[in-house]
Amino acid sequence: MESPLIDPFARAITYLRLSVTDRCDFRCVYCMSENMTFLPKKDLLTLEELDRLCTRFIAMGVRKLRITGGEPLVRKGIMTFFEAMSRHLASGDLDELTLTTNGSQLEKYAQALADCGVRRINVSLDTLDEAKFAEVTRWGRLPQVLRGLEAAQKAGLRVKLNAVALKGFNESELLTLAQYCAEHDMDMTWIEVMPMGDIGNENRIGQFWSLKDLRAELAKHYTLIDLAERTGGPARYVQLQETGQKIGFITPLSHNFCESCNRVRVTCTGEIYTCLGQDGMSDLRAPLRASDDDTLLDDAIRAAIGLKPKGHDFDYSRQTVEGQVARHMSHTGG
Ligand code: GTP
Ligand code: 5AD
Ligand code: SF4
Repeated sequence: MESPLIDPFARAITYLRLSVTDRCDFRCVYCMSENMTFLPKKDLLTLEELDRLCTRFIAMGVRKLRITGGEPLVRKGIMTFFEAMSRHLASGDLDELTLTTNGSQLEKYAQALADCGVRRINVSLDTLDEAKFAEVTRWGRLPQVLRGLEAAQKAGLRVKLNAVALKGFNESELLTLAQYCAEHDMDMTWIEVMPMGDIGNENRIGQFWSLKDLRAELAKHYTLIDLAERTGGPARYVQLQETGQKIGFITPLSHNFCESCNRVRVTCTGEIYTCLGQDGMSDLRAPLRASDDDTLLDDAIRAAIGLKPKGHDFDYSRQTVEGQVARHMSHTGG
């Protein structure tokens, strides 16, 4: 057994979020600007290199692997990669192999994902209104995603919807979304909007809907039972007594959860970001490519984790956006 990855604040790193592409077939207003410049394909790690990288993280104690993007399912050949990663589930070295997706390609891939041992997926869906969906995703179409959700459930995948809480946008859908999830046996998580990257004219403070307020509103209609259970992610869950479903809250702004952080992110070009809310990163691609032996890579991973910051500095409390980071959410996949 190799020594585990422990950061300077005594947090064990057991969760790797791997972004396999920065590209996406949507252009969500809080995530991207309309005219994005994407990385040249030649800069991407190959599927074999991604495999080698993940395998080293797993050897060093990572138990949960989440594939993200951009939209992970638009990366060419991605199912080959999922198939390869399923060997770590079979060996018992990995507890969970999963992904966060916009749902657009699920009709095509849900069954194949289930066959690779994926049990649970998170799908980003902020609204159930077709016109609003087209507005917030710019390029997305709701019926395609709904068909994807259906395909996922048919394949036996547990579905959790992720909604970014946006003031004046999906406030009116708090109950509709809860009811939809109850009817379809899905869980859901609300996420506070974070200041990541320049998104053109959108105003982050104007968009911000605190989950403290959202929770209070929900409590007017349902009895909320706080749950102690965790998925390994940052959400804290309640159960709605009336329907039995679970609703999660991810509150980077209203309640910082960095003290329990267990995760790092690697981008499709092999940059490791040890905090979503900081710009600092280290390169793993050069050590990965420098030699077939893993020593340089392992040293680079350990050195990067040795620099993991205490947490993010996102803050809107003074009515200004503080702690903004330069890169877009799609760069690291959230
Ligand atoms: P579960 O395994 O279901 O708990 O999922 P998860 O919350 O770990 O993953 P998901 O991709 O659904 O994450 C939802 C969102 O939570 C991300 O896109 C981010 O916006 C936010 N998030 C995840 N990790 C962090 C973190 O370390 N810091 C901050 N500030 N936000 C995070
Ligand atoms: N703030 C919070 N969440 C965001 N996401 C994308 N951009 C932001 C942002 N600026 C969410 C997506 C998806 C997840 C990967 O991150 O909706 O659910
Ligand atoms: Fe694509 Fe997800 Fe970003 Fe929307 S939030 S543009 S679906 S990466």
